[in-house]
Amino acid sequence: MLIGVPQETAAGEARVAATPETVKKLVAQGHVLRVQQGAGLDASVTDEAYAAAGAELVPRDSAFACELVLKVRAPDVQELALFKPGAVLAGMLNPFDRDGLQRLADARLTAFALEAAPRTTRAQSMDVLSSQANLAGYKAVMLAAFHYQRLFPMLMTAAGTIKAARVVVLGVGVAGLQAIATAKRLGAVIEASDVRPSVKEQVESLGAKFIDVPFETPEEREAAEGVGGYARPMPPSWLARQQLEVAKRVAQADVVVTTALIPGRPAPVLVTEEMVRAMKPGSVIVDIAAPAGGNCPLTEPGRTVRKHGVTLVGETNLPSLVAADASALYARNLLDFLKLVLTKEGGFALPADDDIVTACLVAHEGQVLRK
Ligand code: NAI
Repeated sequence: MLIGVPQETAAGEARVAATPETVKKLVAQGHVLRVQQGAGLDASVTDEAYAAAGAELVPRDSAFACELVLKVRAPDVQELALFKPGAVLAGMLNPFDRDGLQRLADARLTAFALEAAPRTTRAQSMDVLSSQANLAGYKAVMLAAFHYQRLFPMLMTAAGTIKAARVVVLGVGVAGLQAIATAKRLGAVIEASDVRPSVKEQVESLGAKFIDVPFETPEEREAAEGVGGYARPMPPSWLARQQLEVAKRVAQADVVVTTALIPGRPAPVLVTEEMVRAMKPGSVIVDIAAPAGGNCPLTEPGRTVRKHGVTLVGETNLPSLVAADASALYARNLLDFLKLVLTKEGGFALPADDDIVTACLVAHEGQVLRK
């Protein structure tokens, strides 16, 4: 198959959808890889490295005019015009963006949004949400350490003792777990909260303390179980008690990392303005949920601001700040997904019943396939 890898053009997007490692594997399978000149430069991958892996380096239009196009982000209107009708597209296409999906269908693309893969064991190696959230959790703590004017570890020096930073992590999915692990390696004292009680053990195994908010009704318990590994909105009664517990911890915290997300909905508010006011001057909040509006209403998506003496980091593309590793993991996710739709003969075929392919297929033959 003729497979194209264009350079990403979304603002601040440094990742690339294929690396020399994945190019080499696809070429070995008999495919022809057309990589846009300079596509990997922002992720520290040179044209020479792609060429050595067997890719043809081509101008932008040629990278789009292929039978299969690999992208990181959904194509914009100008990019859509460069596709051949009937082409296959795979990327992080934002399956909750109805208008965006309609544009893909109108362009007659067969489009796969990898974020829509189910959270099952078989889909783990192609789970782009996990691979990227993991890196986001790490980078969030790095940014917190950068903006925080004190140290993370406890330090005993001849000039006196420095206290360890207190870190609170709100939302302990993939990003939250990595944030805890990273802050722990730096020597911080960590507390964490999540709606899903199953997370408690994972939090404790990383050496952090779980902020327990017991359930008082069957409704609260049921909501906390979530669906398919994801959280559901919790009843207001539980959220109110969680907020009381979290507020006490946040007031004493030096760093707060928030990661709470509910797929397809605005992020829940976990740190109110009042809670920010009660924080110590010089504290830092890194709001990983910023792309979904943020877990703190004071977060300004895409910006780092200081309010009530607290630095709020609203970075909306943390994985792009570690673009080399983020691209490497993402490209491997994509390669594993392609195994499901590329045939041994080097063609493309939609398998009859594959739950992963069905879940990811968002547009085909002019129709949006997502309910
Ligand atoms: P996510 O990014 O959608 O959400 C992040 C976290 O926020 C979740 O842990 C969620 O419970 C939490 N949250 C939502 N509302 C909250 C609130 N009001 N207060 C506190 N926390 C709140 O989730 P992510 O990281 O994509 O995955 C969630 C879970 O899915 C993972 O921890 C894991 O258990 C499961 N999973 C399973 C996989 C598999 O079996 N292959 C692969 C990846 C994840």
